[in-house]
Amino acid sequence: MKSTITPIRRDDAGHVVMLDQRLLPFEEVYLTFESGEAVAQGIRDMVIRGAPAIGVAAAMGLALGARRLAAEGFGAAFAALCDVMAASRPTAVNLFWAIDRMKALVEAHVGDHASLLDALDAEAERVYAEDIAICQAIGGHGAPLVPEEATVLTHCNTGGLATAGWGTALGVVRSAVAAGKRVAVFADETRPYLQGSRLTAWECLKDGIDVTVLADGAAGFLLASGRIDLAIVGADRIARNGDTANKIGTYMVATLCARHGVPFYIAAPTSTVDLQIPDGAAIPIEERPAEEVTGVFGKPIAPIGVKAFNPSFDVTPAELIAGIVTEHGVARAPYEESLPALVELGARVV
Ligand code: MRU
Repeated sequence: MKSTITPIRRDDAGHVVMLDQRLLPFEEVYLTFESGEAVAQGIRDMVIRGAPAIGVAAAMGLALGARRLAAEGFGAAFAALCDVMAASRPTAVNLFWAIDRMKALVEAHVGDHASLLDALDAEAERVYAEDIAICQAIGGHGAPLVPEEATVLTHCNTGGLATAGWGTALGVVRSAVAAGKRVAVFADETRPYLQGSRLTAWECLKDGIDVTVLADGAAGFLLASGRIDLAIVGADRIARNGDTANKIGTYMVATLCARHGVPFYIAAPTSTVDLQIPDGAAIPIEERPAEEVTGVFGKPIAPIGVKAFNPSFDVTPAELIAGIVTEHGVARAPYEESLPALVELGARVV
């Protein structure tokens, strides 16, 4: 089974072409970004979103931006571009991971400008290609967790749109389906940005995966009904102790899963694990504009001028997580031991 989704690519000129996820599922429009700053703005505006996809976009944007900078004073100008990129969205650590990869190349090529530009291009392509391979490996480790006939609850979008094209949590579903399992997905709509109803449902329908959308508030009732075999979601940042930041509402789903004895899994590449951060309290949580809560598609759904609370992510405590599926295997509690071991394993494989 192949994912038919291509959320991001580079054209022959090195420009970054992204599927505008703000318009889905109604319009499929690809936008071309011709500078690193424009790519950063595209990330901020959620043209592309999802932690791994943000990392890929940042790498491609920096490779593109580097070509516009003069050899003289390149280091300082590139660092400034990295700062612009880093300021686009604060929670998904894959953004900073990708920036660090590109910065390391600049440091390794001081005084060799021509080969540096090619090296940055090649690194951006590697980040993209690796992400597909990593997601398929996550799928390979996660598929055995899915029963032969399963009903799976998801939150947000963690599929091809959120990565280079396969998916993390939805990638596990894809891999399970590819292995011949009969999987039905229940996708929380994921207010306020509707990544579940707009994006996950669109992807699943496109790829022939059985999907049903539900209002976020219906998840507790669904879990209480006993119809869900497992819940699996992605992550934007995983602290050393396993506490996991993911789309707002994830913590409610995890808590309800615990209440009803349903295993709750995270699926994410090890690039989403931030070993520098001891626990979830240290994860920066992005706050997004009030209008995302008080309106839908630019139409108000609340009294004009009302205040709104719009944190984009929440933190699920590690104790609620049955396992964290990565490209190197499934980490289990105690995560302080299993996560560093898997990250280290990845460092050795590379
Ligand atoms: O605000 P978004 O849409 O970028 O948030 C995305 C999520 O929270 C995803 O669940 C997470 O990035 C994992 S994507 C594979």
